[in-house]
Amino acid sequence: MKKIAILTPGGDAPGMNACIRAVVRRSISSGMEVYGVMNGYQGLIDDNIYKMELRSVSGIIHHGGTILKSSRCAEIKTDEGLSKAIATLKKHQIDFLVVIGGDGSIRAAEKISKFGISVFGIPASIDNDIFGTDETIGFDTAIDTAVDAIDKIRDTATSFDRVFIIEVMGREHGFLALEIGLASGAELVFIPEVKYDLKKVCDELKKDQQKKKTSVIIVFAEGCGDAKEFAKKIFECTGIDVKVSNLGYIQRGGNPSARSRNLASRFGSFSVDLILKGEKNKVIVTQDCVIKAIPIEKAISGEKDIPKDTLVLIEKLAV
Ligand code: F6P
Repeated sequence: MKKIAILTPGGDAPGMNACIRAVVRRSISSGMEVYGVMNGYQGLIDDNIYKMELRSVSGIIHHGGTILKSSRCAEIKTDEGLSKAIATLKKHQIDFLVVIGGDGSIRAAEKISKFGISVFGIPASIDNDIFGTDETIGFDTAIDTAVDAIDKIRDTATSFDRVFIIEVMGREHGFLALEIGLASGAELVFIPEVKYDLKKVCDELKKDQQKKKTSVIIVFAEGCGDAKEFAKKIFECTGIDVKVSNLGYIQRGGNPSARSRNLASRFGSFSVDLILKGEKNKVIVTQDCVIKAIPIEKAISGEKDIPKDTLVLIEKLAV
């Protein structure tokens, strides 16, 4: 009987549970055994794995986080950590490893593939920064969560005629910030991929005040640096007291949106289809609404393009 192990390393993303459910249910129904690895790659290193049943994944589709738990595991990047993980996989005679996670998790999976275990990467991250896929599991939910929070902050911004900087996640990329900015009607969005000109920003804010646009929402991607420092610089050149609000970890939690759950279910089920077809070492992606697979080497070597046209649209709409 073929054996699959499944894990959710790195940052949790809403929809991971829906994906675990899909992989478990499809594999068991297809006559395979499934093992859940606890705490991401740390569980592989520590041999913390258990056999899952159809009912192990009941009642989880609507929950954020991951029932398999997670961790940031630096040890998997070392030769020693990697050999311990391989030893656990060999000990349990695992044939296939399904890794539901972000960029770093898929990179580690690629290293494992070199030891004769067939690996499948399923992109799950609120950052949406994985090459080859239009969307990652959790991205849609994180946008909704952030937009909901900004709508509330806007009430204060409007009532007090204030300028707010809202710091959002995304690691060193601006995919999340752009979608949040567009959906929340932000006046300005800063992303790491595009350098900003402080003088231009200050002139823009002064012009806004003259146009009686006295409340302003600025979405600031965490990869752009220190938001408080940025607010200070704006104050120094304009005299405007800018409030800073960091949305932080609320962006990663909460019940997954229907879109995140469905993407997760499709990705999970598709990974089992690939296993049944005898495919090896792939990352499941969605391109123009079609679920596909690309070689894992390709997924880790490419750099995803930032949609700069979204930034242009935000500017056009903030007149
Ligand atoms: O990758 C998801 C993410 O939430 C990033 O947006 C953020 O930079 C990072 O993880 C935070 O990581 P940690 O959970 O280790 O603090």
